[in-house]
Amino acid sequence: MAVVPYKDKQEGKKEQVAEMFNNISKKYDFLNHFLSLGIDITWRKKAVKMLAADKPKLILDIATGTGDFAIEALALNPDKIIGVDISEGMLAEGRKKLKKRKLDDRIELQTGDSERLLFEDNKFDAVIVSFGVRNFENLEKGLRDMYRVLKPGGKTVIVEFSKPKKFPMKQGYNFYFKYILPQIGKIVSKDNAAYTYLPESVQAFPDGEDFLAVLKKVGFKNTQCKPLTFGISSIYIGQK
Ligand SMILES: C[S@@+](CC[C@H](N)C(=O)[O-])C[C@H]1O[C@@H](n2cnc3c(N)ncnc32)[C@H](O)[C@@H]1O
Repeated sequence: MAVVPYKDKQEGKKEQVAEMFNNISKKYDFLNHFLSLGIDITWRKKAVKMLAADKPKLILDIATGTGDFAIEALALNPDKIIGVDISEGMLAEGRKKLKKRKLDDRIELQTGDSERLLFEDNKFDAVIVSFGVRNFENLEKGLRDMYRVLKPGGKTVIVEFSKPKKFPMKQGYNFYFKYILPQIGKIVSKDNAAYTYLPESVQAFPDGEDFLAVLKKVGFKNTQCKPLTFGISSIYIGQK
């Protein structure tokens, strides 16, 4: 059974995830940086550096949300970045941010589903995703379509929460993630489910070698996993 935000609703995971991110879109950036003490920003920066040697010119940022990973990827000096997301609310916040920072000529945000990308095969030099793959309704389908639109030799760089394995980080993190974060998230976002869904979805999601196995299954080679901050998050890399 897929982990969904609103357990009493009938809609599938994709519709529920889009609804949840629409609900929290206005508070998303604030809560992200507040709840992670700003560490999420350093994780995205580190992930982007994994592509520095490749100098990708055309980058696709899947599940771009409010565009933070796409904005970090500008450090690679690409010609263009396209960000896609299923949540109109998140995209609207992202577009406001890009306009304010005068970045809207370099990053284009489009409505788009990772499982049905409207791009031709072999188009992008790099495909990136931060904190998105855990929310896919069908992980394999999403990763397969990312592989399809990537140029041969191109890389995907994925950042996602993982589960710390060692004492005392494992226990401290579990307590914070299960008891503190949902309370703060609920008060600030006014969505009762979003920040309960977060730890639940992380718990159910494959991490480390298990995630690499899925990347390999859909065709990626030279796969690597780089744990970040005691394994709270990990960077995954794969090549077409
Ligand atoms: C936690 S946010 C991450 C946003 C951004 N990448 C970041 O690092 O802040 C997850 C995003 O994934 C999007 N998402 C979930 N499933 C998706 C799918 N199938 N296709 C495209 N976007 C999806 C959600 O709408 C949401 O905006």
